[in-house]
Amino acid sequence: MTDTSTLPFLPWNRPSIGDEEIAEVTDTLRSGWLTHGPKAARFEEVVRDALGVEDAFAVSSCTAALHLAFLAAGIGPGDEVITPSLTFCAAPNALLQTGARPVFVDVEPVTYNIDPAATEAAITEHTKAIVVMHYGGHPCDLLAFRKLADDHQLLLIEDAAHALHASRDGHRAGSVGDLAAFSFYANKVITTGEGGMLVGRADLVQRARLLGRHGLDSSVWQRHGTRSTAHYEVTAPGLKYVMPDVTAALGVQQFRKLAAFTSRRAEIAGTYASALTGLPGLALPAVLPGVEHGWFLYSVFISDTAPFTRDEVAKLLKDRHHIGTSQHFRPVHELGIYRQDLERRLAVTEAAARQQLSLPCYPDMTTQEVDRVIDALRSIRWTD
Ligand SMILES: Cc1ncc(COP(=O)(O)O)c(C=O)c1O
Repeated sequence: MTDTSTLPFLPWNRPSIGDEEIAEVTDTLRSGWLTHGPKAARFEEVVRDALGVEDAFAVSSCTAALHLAFLAAGIGPGDEVITPSLTFCAAPNALLQTGARPVFVDVEPVTYNIDPAATEAAITEHTKAIVVMHYGGHPCDLLAFRKLADDHQLLLIEDAAHALHASRDGHRAGSVGDLAAFSFYANKVITTGEGGMLVGRADLVQRARLLGRHGLDSSVWQRHGTRSTAHYEVTAPGLKYVMPDVTAALGVQQFRKLAAFTSRRAEIAGTYASALTGLPGLALPAVLPGVEHGWFLYSVFISDTAPFTRDEVAKLLKDRHHIGTSQHFRPVHELGIYRQDLERRLAVTEAAARQQLSLPCYPDMTTQEVDRVIDALRSIRWTD
């Protein structure tokens, strides 16, 4: 067997940045305009057109997009918003900031997306919105959630942080909700280092745009140069959430590569699936019919009856094989300030939190690196 202890560390994630991104950033640095302006507008336009949504607003993070989504939707004190617990804390935290209460429901097995039946059962007279999250890049049942929201006159907000370019039943993730938020954080399918995009209904995105620039009635780009005016009004108690052009420059070039990145991710996922199927105690991710997976995550699940726990497998991969992994997620209802909120057990969420392991799966991985992960997992004694 190859001695893997001397191999360089293979990180769980690595961004793919090429000369095109460097040239576009340099162009921005030389342009004399660094903050939210023409490059941000271009990035917004390409994302808007690709998704077929009414409007898009480039912001400083997905968390900012979610916060603006909730504010623009008028979510506030006394409102309940239904959300999965198997997610990152960004949406629940932003909800708390508005004064609303996140109501955690379980996810469904197989996709680990928020369960439509559990969501319907959690609707009360105080429910204002449903926040779905497309776990790992596998879209939730978008049309079922659209119908559920419409039947109960609720807003549908997509936390699409993982799912740029993914689709289900012909609909792109991020194109069905009243609003949707994307992340361009350093580990996402395309990255601007930090960044996000809010897309959706024009009336709501316009309101978010206002709230994301201090509530000023015009943007700094609209007030510059020959159009320069010192006059502005504050028409809402806004915040500062815009994406600078230096960042948007990265986004414009990364977005051009999104389809190629996604197909390389899918290719790696296919290689893993062929090589790892049948190992006892190791479950692989499923893709439902009608789904184009975004493959932000390649999740495997280590059975409770396997000879090693998920944490032991992660340690073995790291220490013996120099392979990084990650875990998605620590359930929000089990974290600090949220702990007291738990009224009932979320069985699928809690099992996933125990068993899930994210393997390296990103466009820059070489064939040899993919094989390293496969060999390492196949070298584990999966039965006693
Ligand atoms: C599901 C989900 N939503 C939101 C976020 C927050 O994204 P950002 O770091 O761009 O604010 C993340 C971050 O990883 C995430 O995984």
